[in-house]
Amino acid sequence: MTCILGIETSCDETAAAVVEDGRRILSNVVASQIELHRQYGGIFPEVASRQHILTIMPVIRQAMAEAELDWDDLAAIAVTYGPGLPGSLLVGVNTAKGLAYGRGLPLIGINHIEGHIYANWLIVDDSPQEISFPLLAMVVSGGHTELILMTDHGQYRRLGHTLDDAAGEAFDKVGRLLGLEFPGGPAIERTAQDGNPLAFKLPRAWLKGTHNFSFSGLKTAVLRIVQKYEDKVSFADSARNRRVAVSQTPSVIRQLPVANLAAGFQASVIDVLVEKARMAAEEYQVKLIMLAGGVAANRLLRQQMAERSALPVLYPPPALCTDNAAMIASAGYFRYQAGHRSDWGLDVISSLKLVDG
Ligand code: KG4
Ligand code: ZN
Repeated sequence: MTCILGIETSCDETAAAVVEDGRRILSNVVASQIELHRQYGGIFPEVASRQHILTIMPVIRQAMAEAELDWDDLAAIAVTYGPGLPGSLLVGVNTAKGLAYGRGLPLIGINHIEGHIYANWLIVDDSPQEISFPLLAMVVSGGHTELILMTDHGQYRRLGHTLDDAAGEAFDKVGRLLGLEFPGGPAIERTAQDGNPLAFKLPRAWLKGTHNFSFSGLKTAVLRIVQKYEDKVSFADSARNRRVAVSQTPSVIRQLPVANLAAGFQASVIDVLVEKARMAAEEYQVKLIMLAGGVAANRLLRQQMAERSALPVLYPPPALCTDNAAMIASAGYFRYQAGHRSDWGLDVISSLKLVDG
């Protein structure tokens, strides 16, 4: 039995978890800061790092207590060292270093994107899925949209990526345009339930012959429609200005077909994601497709991916799609088994890549 303590502070969740043998969750504690940031309409980096400092030790103590383990029972400490907000990452990395040094435990730095992929290894029911390589991982989060060919543990090849906004970023920006609360992803999913996805003809960027993505054209198309209803809206609007604009033009905003726009936008993003994942999976003859990252929590995406692919499709439960530390502990286990260890010089790398290029 190999137990790893995972620590994650790359963005706005302070998280710690203990995972046994890379798959069994013994504890998984996430302190979300979302309520703090909502007033700014996005993540406020300085506020995030200060909040991590306040929360990190209570969260780790709770994770250890819920796992009912002593420090001696741990094999290693795994921590996210990038990509992410530098100030936020620093809190996790320095805490992990201090604890590992003090307790005489190995330290393992983990790439946040790798963590998202490993959320699929965590066991959530009695009949866990067999995972075999090669597989295609589609990472769709607030900062990333990537198609990754995984040929073995720790072996990645990036097949495609976004040329502009990440899928989650597009959800967040369009959510703001529609006057929805932050983060836009869950708000758009909720609002879209009452909308007709065919009410507006919205573009899909296929970027044929590549496995890349682009969402800026779609975002602009939504902006143009919103502008027809209210010409004060612009991408540069801060959440505060946006609220002022909204409160000054209530009749205009009331006319905006928010549900139809949310449904149309969501359908467009998901259509492209699913189709491009399906084509890459076929080309590289993978055995299964994995969804990972915050946008993978979207029910329509999960459902469409499973329906439109002949291959098995794996996705973590919603709470393990968004940022958490169990996924970091899982990735840490497989790196630990492969003999990876970080030294005390481990530093944060805010633009860390999973694979070069
Ligand atoms: O993985 P994550 O928690 O953080 C990053 O590493 O970026 O992803 C957060 C992103 C946000 O952009 C959020 O709007 C999006 O995931 N998201 C969703 C849903 N839940 C979260 N997007 C679409 N539908 C959802 N249900
Ligand atoms: Zn993430």
